[in-house]
Amino acid sequence: LVAFLASTQILAVALADEGGRHRRRERHSHREHEHSRNEFGTIDNPLYREQCGACHFAYPPGLLSAGSWSKILGQLENHNGAEVALDAQAEEAIGRYLEANAADRLTSKRAGRITSSLRGQTPTRITEVPYILNEHKDLPPETFKRTSVVSFSNCIACHPGAEQGVFDDDSVRIPD
Ligand code: HEC
Ligand code: HEC
Repeated sequence: LVAFLASTQILAVALADEGGRHRRRERHSHREHEHSRNEFGTIDNPLYREQCGACHFAYPPGLLSAGSWSKILGQLENHNGAEVALDAQAEEAIGRYLEANAADRLTSKRAGRITSSLRGQTPTRITEVPYILNEHKDLPPETFKRTSVVSFSNCIACHPGAEQGVFDDDSVRIPD
């Protein structure tokens, strides 16, 4: 619960900062065009956002492979220590959406890096994907333990565009 409250606050801070960054970005419209595209699939599925965004932000589907999502959906009764209750119809619809937009179904550069780094492995955590680990290897471990961050899994603390699938290095911002 504490972690959840903390991340809600982070979300508020991140949203508050959004205006400033957009203004800054207008002056770099060329770079914005080049970098801020969502590379991790469509994230406009209301059922997914509602059911899978209740305890943490709804992770963009292109951060894992179709095989990983199917494994996650197959283990919802023990989901990282939590129990996720979904009726069969919702589970099937969410599964179709996640698999259609999974890293190995997308053609973007970063989705491709996720897939090639996995070499066929199907982890149930994004924070276990070799490409993702590699992109953060230079950050001191304490950074992830700050109360404003809480954990590596809380991508949105440092990537305010995470819910829109935007993780580019222009928009990254480590909170104090
Ligand atoms: C009842 C709360 C709850 C719901 C609802 C929920 N999750 Fe989670 N989820 C968790 C917890 C707790 C973790 C572990 C977070 C941590 O370690 O910081 C987690 C972690 C994850 C991770 C791994 C993040 C990482 O560390 O890389 C993924 C992926 C994920 N959830 C997907 C889903 C999907 C898909 C759904 C919808 C079917 C869902 N979650 C619904 C509680 C929930
Ligand atoms: C403590 C802050 C923090 C958290 C939490 C965090 N990141 Fe990052 N992330 C960074 C920083 C800093 C970089 C490096 C940016 C750079 O290279 O200049 C980065 C880089 C990335 C990149 C590469 C961007 C690029 O331009 O190539 C991706 C993709 C990414 N993160 C995804 C994630 C995902 C997914 C999560 C959650 C599972 C996450 N990050 C959690 C801080 C964070």
